[in-house]
Amino acid sequence: MSFVFKVLIKAILLVFFVFASGISAMSLKDAYKNEFLIGVALANKDLTNSSITTIANNEFNTVTAEFGMKMTSILPESGVYNFAWTDQLFGFVKKSGHFVVGHTLVWHKALPEWLFCDRMGQKLKRDQLLLKLQQHINTYVGRYRGQVLGWDVVNEAFNYDGSFRNSPWLEIIGEDYIEKAFEFAHQADPNAELYYNDYGLVNPKKQAAVVALVKRLKKKGIPIHAVGIQGHYSLTYPDLNKLDKTIARFAKLGVKVMITELDVSVLPFPGVEERGEDAVISAERLIELNPYPNQLPDEIQQQLTSRYRDLFCVFLKHQSAVSRVTFWGLTDSRSWRNNWPIEGRTDYPLLFDRALNAKPVVDALLELPASRDDFCNF
Ligand code: GLA
Repeated sequence: MSFVFKVLIKAILLVFFVFASGISAMSLKDAYKNEFLIGVALANKDLTNSSITTIANNEFNTVTAEFGMKMTSILPESGVYNFAWTDQLFGFVKKSGHFVVGHTLVWHKALPEWLFCDRMGQKLKRDQLLLKLQQHINTYVGRYRGQVLGWDVVNEAFNYDGSFRNSPWLEIIGEDYIEKAFEFAHQADPNAELYYNDYGLVNPKKQAAVVALVKRLKKKGIPIHAVGIQGHYSLTYPDLNKLDKTIARFAKLGVKVMITELDVSVLPFPGVEERGEDAVISAERLIELNPYPNQLPDEIQQQLTSRYRDLFCVFLKHQSAVSRVTFWGLTDSRSWRNNWPIEGRTDYPLLFDRALNAKPVVDALLELPASRDDFCNF
C-alpha cells in the first residue's frame, strides 16, 4: 500500500470516527484560544475516571478542584496536612498541561473546627489567628509555588446587602482579614494571580461591596488581579444586560474578570420556604420542581443551548477583560445542581450528558467565536 493511500485511509477513518462519535474536530479550548481560557472543575474521583480526564484534556486548558483544594480536604480534623490528592492533581496537570486555579484559601465553609482554637480549646485572638493564617498560606501556596496560575484567595465574603458575611475570620480578625489573606498569598507566591471570588455579583449592593474591596486593595498597593464571578445561573437568571454591566464595571477597575463556576440549571427555582432540611414539599409540588427526571425534552435542550450562547455573547463582548470561563463540572450526572437548592432532582446544567456525550450546546459554543455577528446582540 502506498504511503499516500495509507494517509488517505487514516484521514477517512478519523473523519468517520469524529462523525460517528459526535465529537467535533475542534475543541473548546482551541475555539476560544484567542478569547479566553476555558476551564473545568474536577471532583476528586474524576481524576481516576479516564473517560472524564480524556474529555478534560481535549476540551479544556484550565482545572479547578471542585472540593479537593478546600481547607477541610487538605487540613482535616487530624490537624495534619494531607496533600495526597492535591499532589495527584499536580501530577495530572504536569502531563496534561492544564493551568491550575487554586480554590480556595479563605472561605466561611469547609473549615476544620479546631482551626480557631488553641490547644486548650480557647478561642484564638486576632494576632494568633493571623499568624495561623499566614503559616497556612505559606505552607500551602508555597508548596505549589510556580505551579498555580492563580488563587481564589477569598471566596464569598459579602452578603447580598453588601455587609461582610459573618465568619470566624471576620469575628476574630476583623474586616481586614481579606487584605491580610491577599498579602500573605502574594508573599508566598509573588508570581501567582490573586482573585476575589463570589456569586450573585449582579446584585447592586453586593457588587458595590466588591467594587469597594478592589479599590481598597489597589489603593493600599495589595495585589488583586481578578474578580471571579461564579456563574451559577439558570435559563432566566441573571438578566443579560445586568451581567453585561457587571463585567464592564469590574473591568473598569483594571482587574481581569473570570467566570469561575458556570452552570445553567434548567429546573424551576424553589421558593425560600421550600429549601432547607425541614421544608415540607407536597408530592405534586415535587413533580413540578423536578419536571425532567428521565430525560431533557428537546425544547428545553434548545433553550439551554441558546441560553449558553447568549451568556457567551456577553463574555465575548468583554473578551479583553474576561480571561477565563470555567464550567463547574463536566457531566450532568455529577453536578451539584442536582442537589441544590434542594436535594434529589435531575438537572442538566453542564456541557456533557449523563453518558458523557457532548450536548448540542457544545457545537453551538464551538461555532460562536467565528459566527458571533450572526448570533450575538451584544
Ligand atoms: C460555591 C463554592 C464552590 C462550590 C459551590 C457548590 O460556589 O465556591 O467551591 O462549593 O459553591 O458546588
